[in-house]
Amino acid sequence: MKVSDRTRGVEYAIRDITAHAQKYKAAGKEIIYLNIGDPVKFDFKTPAHIKQALVDAVLNDENYYADSEGLPELRQAIMEKESEKGLEISQDDVLVTNGVSEGLDMTLASIVDPNSEVLMPGPYYPPYSSYVKFYGGKPVEFRISEDGRPDLEDLRKKITPRSRAICIINPNNPTGEVFDRKSLQQLVDSATEHDLYIICDEIYDKIVFDSQFTGIGKVAKDAPVVLLNGFSKSYLMTGWRCGYICMNSNSKKLDEFRHDVPKLARVRIAANLPVQIAAVQALKGPQDHIPIMIEKLRKRRDYVVKRLDAIGFHCKLPRGAFYVFPKIELGTRWKDDQQFVLDLLDKTGVLTVHGSGFGATFGSGSFRIVYLPPEDVLEKAMDKLEKFVKS
Ligand SMILES: Cc1ncc(COP(=O)(O)O)c(C=O)c1O
Repeated sequence: MKVSDRTRGVEYAIRDITAHAQKYKAAGKEIIYLNIGDPVKFDFKTPAHIKQALVDAVLNDENYYADSEGLPELRQAIMEKESEKGLEISQDDVLVTNGVSEGLDMTLASIVDPNSEVLMPGPYYPPYSSYVKFYGGKPVEFRISEDGRPDLEDLRKKITPRSRAICIINPNNPTGEVFDRKSLQQLVDSATEHDLYIICDEIYDKIVFDSQFTGIGKVAKDAPVVLLNGFSKSYLMTGWRCGYICMNSNSKKLDEFRHDVPKLARVRIAANLPVQIAAVQALKGPQDHIPIMIEKLRKRRDYVVKRLDAIGFHCKLPRGAFYVFPKIELGTRWKDDQQFVLDLLDKTGVLTVHGSGFGATFGSGSFRIVYLPPEDVLEKAMDKLEKFVKS
């Protein structure tokens, strides 16, 4: 039976690669998973007060459909969090979604028509291009310079009459790059000049190491900024699926979007209610797990980067999130990054993700390592990687 051409083209390298690992596992070999950015799978656990709030909500029979736009108390708490970061929003400008993933889907579904183009930083988190393609559009990667700033000349060259939006992922997955205030301002100015939406994903806003994090709201003024954020990473709630969309209140250009996106929220009924109740506690309750998480991650990042450098990989120090994106010396041994990643898996059991899965233009020739596991696991993985490269 035929399936739609749209669905056939959907890709998600981070999880698609797991299919290869299954074969390896079936042969009884041990795998070191460095492919999925899920802290809860390692030694970062959902804080006790958030878990308790979920259990209490279920036991108190809060098990019915929520409002489509989200639980009012949660929308209020999100409004407070994002206003503090600089974005001017009212509670009505917040929509709660089943993860940032659903928020991204709804946002792109609302703005992409067949043949429209969406600009995204190269490399980018794969669902950005997958959803754009799914809705008939074309993802267009713009270059990030060696100093971690967007290459504005490259961006301007790529803006066409078909462009609809510029995406910003800050901090970025897979590079861990963090944009400074000036870069954000320049991106907002370019978008405003060409009447483009700005879709900004700040899911790693609290996972920043050496620099100050600037929210897009700080430079948004009246620009058509759609902010995506969620609870998976900073609040260690990956499995619960909770995120949100915020729309800049000051932007008249967002009026149609503001009117239409809630229709998509209504047609899928609602986000998970007990989880939303727990998410209120995540925002309002103690935040002390965050500095502890950052310190643990900083040590793991520094260890992995040191080892990669010693092995001979060119690898920039990531300033946020929990990924490194080293370049591979291709040449005669491996024809491309995918072959490198599969060969590494085959010979060592270390599972990473090929860079081309994060964008053909700027992702190819690199691979992504998740440095969430404890040091002893990372040490074992780095030893295996070193032996593999030097063999
Ligand atoms: C940049 C970025 N956005 C969104 C997501 C997915 O978020 P959620 O779990 O809220 O769907 C991820 C997950 O890795 C991510 O890296």
